[in-house]
Amino acid sequence: MSGPLPVPAVAGTRPSVLAPMQDVTTTGFMRVIGRRGAPDWFVTEYFRVHESSTPEKHIVDSVVNHGTGRPVFAQLIGEDTPHMLRTIRELGKLPVAGIDLNMGCPAPKVYRKNVGGGLLRDPAKIDELIGAMRQEIPGLFTVKMRIGFDGQERFDEILAIVAKHQVDLLTVHGRTVKGLYWSEVDYVAIAKAVQSVPCPVIANGDVTSAAKAQRLASETKAYGMMMGRHAIRNPWIFRQWREVQQGQTPFAPTLTDVRTYIQELADECCDAAKATDKQAGRLKKFLNFVGLAVDTEGKFLHDMRRTENLPDLLKCCDAHLLGARAGEAYPDEPHRGLIARPTRETQQGCTL
Ligand SMILES: Cc1cc2nc3c(=O)[nH]c(=O)nc-3n(C[C@H](O)[C@H](O)[C@H](O)COP(=O)(O)O)c2cc1C
Repeated sequence: MSGPLPVPAVAGTRPSVLAPMQDVTTTGFMRVIGRRGAPDWFVTEYFRVHESSTPEKHIVDSVVNHGTGRPVFAQLIGEDTPHMLRTIRELGKLPVAGIDLNMGCPAPKVYRKNVGGGLLRDPAKIDELIGAMRQEIPGLFTVKMRIGFDGQERFDEILAIVAKHQVDLLTVHGRTVKGLYWSEVDYVAIAKAVQSVPCPVIANGDVTSAAKAQRLASETKAYGMMMGRHAIRNPWIFRQWREVQQGQTPFAPTLTDVRTYIQELADECCDAAKATDKQAGRLKKFLNFVGLAVDTEGKFLHDMRRTENLPDLLKCCDAHLLGARAGEAYPDEPHRGLIARPTRETQQGCTL
């Protein structure tokens, strides 16, 4: 009982997907990304499911009002089967392309409730939950998982469950839950998933550039690639990978293009009704990643982190990205040695 997967924007190319990111993949961010060559589809931030949950309004808004023309999958996090099924019926009234199950969130306060990455410790529960969800979902049912909790002992067993219930598409983030966001990504494990399940597999984890996406597609044989933090840094990554796949020279953004992107982030993602220091705080969440490729010594990161309000932050962006540097190329890969300061989400995993 499932439909066809979304057709990539360019026939014959492998699809790219924007990773679901709490507090990042909002309506505004999807719009900004969509204007730079959208991914083939999006996945929402997770809808939290428990006995008194109702679909969060801001996430519903991202499904309805993103305006990119690309499909959106709604992601759920939870383990209470009746309430997961109720939520699936509620979300079925929205224009969603399908339902995605989160089996990866690494926040201790999440996994201790046996949801997100916590599910990976309990294959019997996964079997019961995925089986029930498959019965309920009339269209596409996708799963996003990590390769294990603190090791890969149960990986084969969980892949067999995914196969048994005819999940339509599997995304594998090649880290364990304990590996959070910084451990080395195990692309061999992703390649193993590609061989083990009958459905297409999307590879995820440190797909930093179009060139790396191309290399990983060939190494893992994955159906497509999902990019998260690297799409915040480089919102052109989806179009660039499409161009590379078609044998074209990929778009090469300049620092002026980056400054325009930052302005759109400020306009679309910062709430103008909020105090200007709060708006700056919100924009810095994105600039934390953008700054990884602005200069090799991290001067931009250093300076932007010290601004206290939105006008000063934008002036700081002008100083580092325009003037003499305006025509300079923005590199594809982040500079070595620079780090994006952990946010609430990456420090603790996603929050619930
Ligand atoms: C700020 C942030 C929030 C995230 N929120 C979610 C989420 O709601 N659901 C989910 O499945 N993964 C979430 N993730 C994980 C990403 O989808 C992705 O699997 C991970 O960042 C690895 O991909 P990357 O190396 O391309 O960033 C989040 C990651 C970040 C950085």
